Amino acid sequence: MRQAAIWSGVWALLADGVGAGRAAGGGLGAGNRSEDRGGQGGDRVGMSVPLVVDAGGGSGGFAVPIAAAGYPVTVVDPSPDALAALRRRADERGLGDRITAVQGDLGDLRTLVGDGRVDLLLCHSVLDVVDDPSAALAQALRVLRPGGALSLLVAGRAGAVLHRAVAGRLDEALAVFGGEMPRVPRPARRFCVAEAIALVQTAGGEVLDVHGVRIFADLVPGERLADPRVAESLRRLELAAAGHEPYRNFGAQLHVLARRPGDTSTHSHKGTHRRKDTFADVEAERAVPTGGTGAS
Ligand SMILES: C[S@@+](CC[C@H](N)C(=O)[O-])C[C@H]1O[C@@H](n2cnc3c(N)ncnc32)[C@H](O)[C@@H]1O
Repeated sequence: MRQAAIWSGVWALLADGVGAGRAAGGGLGAGNRSEDRGGQGGDRVGMSVPLVVDAGGGSGGFAVPIAAAGYPVTVVDPSPDALAALRRRADERGLGDRITAVQGDLGDLRTLVGDGRVDLLLCHSVLDVVDDPSAALAQALRVLRPGGALSLLVAGRAGAVLHRAVAGRLDEALAVFGGEMPRVPRPARRFCVAEAIALVQTAGGEVLDVHGVRIFADLVPGERLADPRVAESLRRLELAAAGHEPYRNFGAQLHVLARRPGDTSTHSHKGTHRRKDTFADVEAERAVPTGGTGAS
């Protein structure tokens, strides 16, 4: 539930862009649990399977559900412990043959995977901790085929300031606002929406969309979320606000959907979700929803 906006974007990429003509899938927010799409994708007879790579995929929080949906995933991560946990998780789910675990970091990606081959590259919560995120991303993007898709997750700065302020940690809020990370070694780096967009563009990627993740979730008292109706309302609120200013800038994380420029044939057809052909199209439609009475 806390990651509903991320999963919406990932499934949309697989269904609409990466998997076009290759794999099945629905639109935004489909499925009972947002990470659960059960047995689609590569299970489809007669369809070739997209190559999915999860760089810094850790113990498989994203790779395992994607594999469970039928897409083989290669996880590249420098941590042997994380990879061991990944293998255990994959085996427990009977997905051992769909997940390949490779030890290495972002700098090894091109050697390990090869240039221009990958249909979907996940890079979640990794650029927050590398020394030069722009250079690392530029190298990583080289493994994508032209038109291949990137799912990038970075830590949000505005959300971190807000959450600390609401918790009464005002000095910390002020420090994070100023770009410091007191008493918190990781993530070493946080981004606002404009910085995340600039990061991808500087690295040579074409931004398709940006969502805020956990805009409200960390602000709702935990005991309220024990009520399934409240949890469902929160899930719907997160999804509704994820793509809209000013809300998305307050996400604890920012999810950027992008692609490597090149062939766009698998990304520009009329899809099942609201992603447009260019980021400019999306931003042109971006507005604060004005539904309801207008009362605050
Ligand atoms: C916060 S975890 C995120 C795991 C996973 N991507 C997710 O979102 O659930 C960060 C992961 O990045 C890995 N990592 C750290 N530095 C890295 C680097 N330079 N290249 C690739 N992965 C790295 C860590 O081993 C860890 O598994």
